[in-house]
Amino acid sequence: MTEVKTFDVQKLRADFPILAREVHGKPLVYLDNGASAQKPRCVIDSIRNTYEREYANVHRAAHELSAICTDKFEQARRSVQRFLNAPEDREVIFVRGTTEAINLVAQAWGRSSLKAGDEIVITAMEHHSNIVPWQMLCEQTGAKLRVAPMDQTGTLIFDEYLKLLNPRTRLVSVVHVSNALGTINPVKRMAAAAHQHGALVLVDGAQAAPHMRIDVQDLGVDFYAFSGHKAFGPSGIGALWGRAEVLEAMPPWHGGGEMIESVSFAKTTYAKIPHKFEAGTPSIADTIAMGVALEYLMEIGFDAMQAYEHELLEYATAQLSAIEGLRIIGTSADKAGVISFVLEGIHAADAGMILDEQGIAVRVGQHCAEPVMDFFKVPATIRASFAFYNTRAEVDALVKGIHKVKELFA
Ligand code: ALA
Repeated sequence: MTEVKTFDVQKLRADFPILAREVHGKPLVYLDNGASAQKPRCVIDSIRNTYEREYANVHRAAHELSAICTDKFEQARRSVQRFLNAPEDREVIFVRGTTEAINLVAQAWGRSSLKAGDEIVITAMEHHSNIVPWQMLCEQTGAKLRVAPMDQTGTLIFDEYLKLLNPRTRLVSVVHVSNALGTINPVKRMAAAAHQHGALVLVDGAQAAPHMRIDVQDLGVDFYAFSGHKAFGPSGIGALWGRAEVLEAMPPWHGGGEMIESVSFAKTTYAKIPHKFEAGTPSIADTIAMGVALEYLMEIGFDAMQAYEHELLEYATAQLSAIEGLRIIGTSADKAGVISFVLEGIHAADAGMILDEQGIAVRVGQHCAEPVMDFFKVPATIRASFAFYNTRAEVDALVKGIHKVKELFA
């Protein structure tokens, strides 16, 4: 595919019907993309088309509609494969989202592989979904969770991470882009170091997938997880990629239909990957539509998109930094389009409410990353998270909105 040379943001915005609406009588300024991104018309049309014209269950029946849906469902698997540059489509497992993907690895791989004394390494900037499944696994197996620290800019302290690795390390599970800080982690270098100790590497790519080209072969990781809804697709669908040999060696997680080869009361044998991990009827229309979303993203082209978003982030950082009493939380040199901040003397929830009255959608709170808030000693932050369809004018609206918040509360 050829990359587009220019980035026509207005043309792309027109693909997203919701961006044209007003909220509280003001044009919507949607800066909560980290929580969930908006959907282009092609994704909305795909869902409608499935239900209006093509819907049937997949992999099961000998009729036309089932054949169409099965083809499109498997086409979506190949879209994910291309999106991640995965070697094989059978390495792509459809799940409900990143959270389910991590729980799948924790339970299917972890429970069968770990023993007391083994270690799992995460970082200090993880989302709860990359902390709690490992804590549960540690309770079940006696393994130990170790946490690589970050510095005051929200950057991983790489040397400290290296010190945590040892022959007992069985898995490193790391967020690619921090949802609360925007930090981009050096996943490739982290994976190379982990592999020297024989550990597997899982990447939580929930916040990376909407922003950057991902190449699991270049990153050299073993698992990569992301959610459809943050990458302009539907909610309730996502994917786990895993290296074939690792997935093949793992026992299944959920038991049921679709994941078996044969069942008798005496003995059940399991299907091959990916079906071994896809028990039950999947989210058919959403899976197909996620494939459409990923094709749409790839068509835009990551070089142009990343350059545009980087410029927007720099502009927003400069504009927000100039506001008196505003402190940005997360100032790593390598960041994606997330700006978390606090306003001196003003509760984040109050700021969120006043911004909302002006049509500006941001997230306020702990962002499912309570340890990050504790580290920076703040109860909550206000978070503006950008997508490629955001503009400088929207950053200006945010700045104006923050001044209004200050007038009312400071
Ligand atoms: N994890 C999502 C966020 O960061 C919900 O907002």
